[in-house]
Amino acid sequence: MKRYAIVGTGGRHAMYRNAIVERFNNRASLVALLDSNAGRLQLAAKRAGSYAERIETFEASDNEAAAFDAMVEETSPDVVIVTSMDSTHDRYICRALERCDVITEKPLTTDAVKLQRILDTCESTGRRVTVAFNYRYSPVRAQLKELLLAGTIGEVTAVDFQWMLDTRHGADYFRRWHRKKENSGGLLVHKATHHFDLVNWWLADVPDEVTAVGERRFYRPEQAVALGLAHPGSRCTGCAESSNCAFFLDLDRFDAMRRLYRENEAYDDYFRDRCVFSDAIDIEDTMHVRVRYSRGARLNYSLIAYAPWEGYRISFTGTRGRIEHDVRESSPAGEATLEGESLGATLKVYPHFEAPWVVEPQAASGGHGGGDALLLDDVFNDDGRADPLRRAADIRSGAWSILVGIAANRSIERNVAVRPDELVRGLSVPPALALE
Ligand SMILES: NC(=O)c1ccc[n+]([C@@H]2O[C@H](COP(=O)([O-])OP(=O)(O)OC[C@H]3O[C@@H](n4cnc5c(N)ncnc54)[C@H](O)[C@@H]3O)[C@@H](O)[C@H]2O)c1
Repeated sequence: MKRYAIVGTGGRHAMYRNAIVERFNNRASLVALLDSNAGRLQLAAKRAGSYAERIETFEASDNEAAAFDAMVEETSPDVVIVTSMDSTHDRYICRALERCDVITEKPLTTDAVKLQRILDTCESTGRRVTVAFNYRYSPVRAQLKELLLAGTIGEVTAVDFQWMLDTRHGADYFRRWHRKKENSGGLLVHKATHHFDLVNWWLADVPDEVTAVGERRFYRPEQAVALGLAHPGSRCTGCAESSNCAFFLDLDRFDAMRRLYRENEAYDDYFRDRCVFSDAIDIEDTMHVRVRYSRGARLNYSLIAYAPWEGYRISFTGTRGRIEHDVRESSPAGEATLEGESLGATLKVYPHFEAPWVVEPQAASGGHGGGDALLLDDVFNDDGRADPLRRAADIRSGAWSILVGIAANRSIERNVAVRPDELVRGLSVPPALALE
């Protein structure tokens, strides 16, 4: 029976908590929870139902290091799962590695200095960090990986990747801690870590040079004025414009949000509904990145956080043809779906000089295109079975993916091309990012 502790008891931790307490309770046991917010911490324990009596809780509001050390001392976890705010990951990962293995949510961390510290600690302790890249596990993405691995379109030379976040999910990043680069690394790290990991993994290659531009064009005070919102408040709760604003979020209306965030504001002033048009935001909402890969493929990537529908379009062009893959995930209130359009995925192959063909996407259910459930199977079954697609991601995959975003942030700041491999020392290439 492996003993697990979870650090960070916000929205995401519930997936791991429930998996241990319910699906995998024959092989895993949850021994501890830790959070800086006493209210969310107690709520998390309560939600474990009758299992709660087996869980110790540790509050990390004043002395985070002492609380963490007490947790590992008293409960001896075999694995610490890190699901706290991004900018805190490095501290918990490094502290945990002194005692045990780690599973961390993406992004591994938010900047190059923190990444170096994690890489060094991993090296000196010889322990394992798994990065929970659930997107790799979505069945249609595995089908695409198989097509590329089989050489269906020859050597890939060009990738065009557009990711759209819609005005519901995309806006959410501008309401909470993600809106500050010091907390999240910006969307090129926080969100695009998934996307850059997918391209690294699909191509089985590592990035060589990154250039980027990024701006905030929508979630800013000028847009509130353009929308006729003359008096936006600092948050939705109590805002004079609540009845006029399409971005109004009523925390009290949604039971889950009320209980998780609204009722625990007094502990730490974490307001889940800050105004999306605030001048205090310092992350970009409109980003364009170019990446040259080590074997010569070029990636053109864009991330827009205020699209009318959410999903992505990607094409791979190679020396023997082209693959196109689209996913339409959602559309707030359905307004952006034209007749004949539907949510879901498509995968098409266009070989040179031959008839194109369609690959039927495998059915998937559950969060993140079916990726969450399959990731959990892999993480908690941990039976050493070989996966030909190498979906389990170690610290090196986590690092190579955030390095694209970190390099892109630097390129935006300094208007220069940045080599990701020069941002840290001692990072090798894992088998998942290399050809056989
Ligand atoms: N893989 C995915 O698809 C996916 C989806 C959602 C979130 N995530 C990741 O999960 C993590 C948590 O995100 P979330 O949506 O649950 O956010 P959240 O805001 O709901 O929860 C974050 C939690 O961290 C706690 N926290 C903040 N500072 C802390 C500190 N110093 N010590 C201990 N706890 C601290 C907060 O109190 C809060 O409970 C993030 O890293 C995020 O990127 C991944």
